[in-house]
Amino acid sequence: MKIDVVTVFPEYLSPLDLSLIGRARQRGLIDLDVHDLRRWTHDVHHSVDGAPAGGGAGMVMKPQPWGECLDELVPGEDRPRLLVTSPAGRPFTQAMAHELAAEPWLLFACGRYEGIDQRVVDHASSRMEVTEVSIGDYVLFGGEVAVLAIVEAVARLVPGVLGNAASLDDESHNAGLLEAPAYTRPAEWRGHEIPPVLLSGDHGKVDRWRREQALLRTARARPDLLERLEAGSLDKRDRLL
Ligand code: ADE
Repeated sequence: MKIDVVTVFPEYLSPLDLSLIGRARQRGLIDLDVHDLRRWTHDVHHSVDGAPAGGGAGMVMKPQPWGECLDELVPGEDRPRLLVTSPAGRPFTQAMAHELAAEPWLLFACGRYEGIDQRVVDHASSRMEVTEVSIGDYVLFGGEVAVLAIVEAVARLVPGVLGNAASLDDESHNAGLLEAPAYTRPAEWRGHEIPPVLLSGDHGKVDRWRREQALLRTARARPDLLERLEAGSLDKRDRLL
């Protein structure tokens, strides 16, 4: 998978050199380039922003550097999926992570300040699929942290990136619910025990217990997820609380 990220703070993306993503890059599973938007500015100050049309606080990113940047990074017939990070975007979810993991090429545009001039998205939409995406209902200084989160969620779904692909299977078994709590040895720590069923060796019972815990946790922390579960996906034995 090819990933390009355009930002005015390339250093912000340096964690992408580390850990499993760094290893996936070294192994050639992910080809990731970070570009400095200021490369496409022509004035001495390398300015990328201007006052908002119509007035108001903050600054808006100018269309010119973005336009030239996209022209250069997407010169030919091959088109990336363009993702523009913004608190006004479509909510990023695990389902969208799967959707993006199936794309051959992702290009992230990190918005800063009050966002990017809307004409950049409108113009790019005539050449490629564009999605404005938000990682949550809160406002960050810019899209860089959002890109870190999205790239990590997507990269671990790319075949070969995760050491143990069974972890992905477990997640999909859990579809729509939060995961059950996890434990490791010692069996007792500071007076707290691992739930005995997990040490029983009875896989049927362990699965049953995990399912119940997943339901309980979801009901407590994310009742909205339970409401959204498809009718058929709660099985008859799910004793609902
Ligand atoms: N930029 C600022 N806030 C953001 C958010 N919540 N998601 C994505 N990009 C952002």
